[in-house]
Amino acid sequence: MKTVKASIIGFGSIGQGVARVLLMKKEYLNKEGIDIKVVAITDSKGAAIDENGLDLEKCLAIKADKGTVAEKEMTGLDVINQIDHDLVIEATPTDVITGGAGLLNMQAAFENGRDVVTSNKGPLTLKFKELNELAEKKGCAFRYEATVGGAMPIINLTKEVMAGNEIESIKGIFNGTCNYILTRMLEEKSSYSEILTEAVDLGIAETDPTYDVEGIDTAGKVVILANAVFGMNKTINDVDRTGITQITYEALEMSAKNGKTIKLIGEVRKDGSLTVSPRLVPIGHPLSVSGTLNVASVQTDLAGEITVTGKGAGSIETASAILSDIISIYKAD
Ligand code: HSE
Repeated sequence: MKTVKASIIGFGSIGQGVARVLLMKKEYLNKEGIDIKVVAITDSKGAAIDENGLDLEKCLAIKADKGTVAEKEMTGLDVINQIDHDLVIEATPTDVITGGAGLLNMQAAFENGRDVVTSNKGPLTLKFKELNELAEKKGCAFRYEATVGGAMPIINLTKEVMAGNEIESIKGIFNGTCNYILTRMLEEKSSYSEILTEAVDLGIAETDPTYDVEGIDTAGKVVILANAVFGMNKTINDVDRTGITQITYEALEMSAKNGKTIKLIGEVRKDGSLTVSPRLVPIGHPLSVSGTLNVASVQTDLAGEITVTGKGAGSIETASAILSDIISIYKAD
């Protein structure tokens, strides 16, 4: 059995989802030869530390009761630099414009020789190449399936499961908030601003929902796909982007009368073009999924078109992608 000492940096919806999933899948992990011992958890107020392994059930209860697990005044960065452990589970809030705390956390993790599994898109949209090079130089694993499409497997699917195929393009819906808004606008005969509050209440919108509706979140995911799957070196500024703020109920109704729906589609093509824009999709087409679902259609030279769909956000759903990354790193050969 391999014991992996881990930290959970960021104990919001996703960090707590990771703790729950580690509790739920303890036996499964043990069968795979992995024993995850969480030695530190941090949130915005401080850290809980136990080098013998924290009681995750207790941490979740304390978080629910007091709003924080903080016992010590340590930041995520302090924990990464000072506490002995193998794996940093980086789940701090995303900022695709500045990289946020996550960027420094990941850099520090690699400098200290620690592996990183993350759901945080920000650092990857800004410094994808630099982070991967640093991880490689320091001999660390770096996995980020949860950054695109939450539970929907797209990065590992295209990079590993579909190995040997040349990927020609990936296009799809990568933002559940926009998909929900467009779905509900038609149902409620409403404008996007009227449905926005409802979407925010679902808890899947970005801290600033402008990032969702202006297509910035989708652009970040398209950049990660371009770099991770196609080996490009793109940043968010390379994306030709239009959001959904100009879409009206009337446009959705007119499209529906013509058997079509409007979706915010992100696309990366092997010629290097990266786009995010509202597009007409025939109703019934695999890319016409409704509600908060994400969907990705991969065009390949050998396998033809492969489509996957799944929940693009959510605590346990996103944690499921983090779990699969952890297993792929530490599973015994
Ligand atoms: N705000 C994002 C969405 C969260 O709505 O899909 C997942 O990245």
